[in-house]
Amino acid sequence: MLDKIKEANRFLAPLLDGQEPAIAIILGTGLGDLARDLVVRHATPYTAIPHFPTSTVPGHAGRWIVGELDGKNIIAMQGRFHFYEGHSMQEITFPVRVMRELGVKTLLLSNAAGGVNPLFRTGDLMIIEDHINLFPEHPLRGKNYESLGARFPAMTGAYSPRLIALAMEAGKRLDLPLHRGVYVGLQGPSFETPAEYRWIRATGGDAVGMSTVPEVIVARHAGMECFGLSVITNSLSTVATSHEEVQEVGHCVRPRVIALVRELLRQL
Ligand code: HPA
Repeated sequence: MLDKIKEANRFLAPLLDGQEPAIAIILGTGLGDLARDLVVRHATPYTAIPHFPTSTVPGHAGRWIVGELDGKNIIAMQGRFHFYEGHSMQEITFPVRVMRELGVKTLLLSNAAGGVNPLFRTGDLMIIEDHINLFPEHPLRGKNYESLGARFPAMTGAYSPRLIALAMEAGKRLDLPLHRGVYVGLQGPSFETPAEYRWIRATGGDAVGMSTVPEVIVARHAGMECFGLSVITNSLSTVATSHEEVQEVGHCVRPRVIALVRELLRQL
């Protein structure tokens, strides 16, 4: 694993043109085209990067972008890897390891999620305050490399209270209503049954999705500060979901997500 990180790092480090990007963004379903708003210096397909898995989901373009957003150097992953695609947990979180090696300190993640909180409506945004990990495998299972992080990393404050506060203020300035809540991460790829939705609600969830939790666990293990934003693409009343619907809602909400991310970035 350490060698693989080094090899990917050797390939990606020159693309930084000597600038250390302190911030990375992982763009989820329907939000991949956030990259349109960046000044793109380099866009590299995942297939070209040593040891990167390949993303197989429509709507997840699969490019590693080095660029600028409002004058800030950032790395953006356009498209992420999901457990349901068949990759191992170590594989889907590998890019987060590489980001840390490249000097990234702050990780922003967006995803599409189902709203299980009855107050949530399609198209709403939820700042992730905490998560419940229901994935069947853990990304830190196996040998721990102390140079990457502690054997038993804490998960309190995994979603940075500082960044949550800044995002809430940003939302106020933009007059953008924001929920806060608990994201429940499941493996998918089937959407939940109505009974599962009710169960997730009863056990403390506000939103449910198939990503983000593995990346945040690994980012916290590596000491990075994390911020997560869920786009609520469907809810209990519209529980019959399809990937197209999820993408479409993600797309409609895009301007609001971009506005919020930009406003948040300005404070960092
Ligand atoms: N469940 C799981 N993942 C999702 C959903 C959902 O309802 N909507 C978007 N991603």
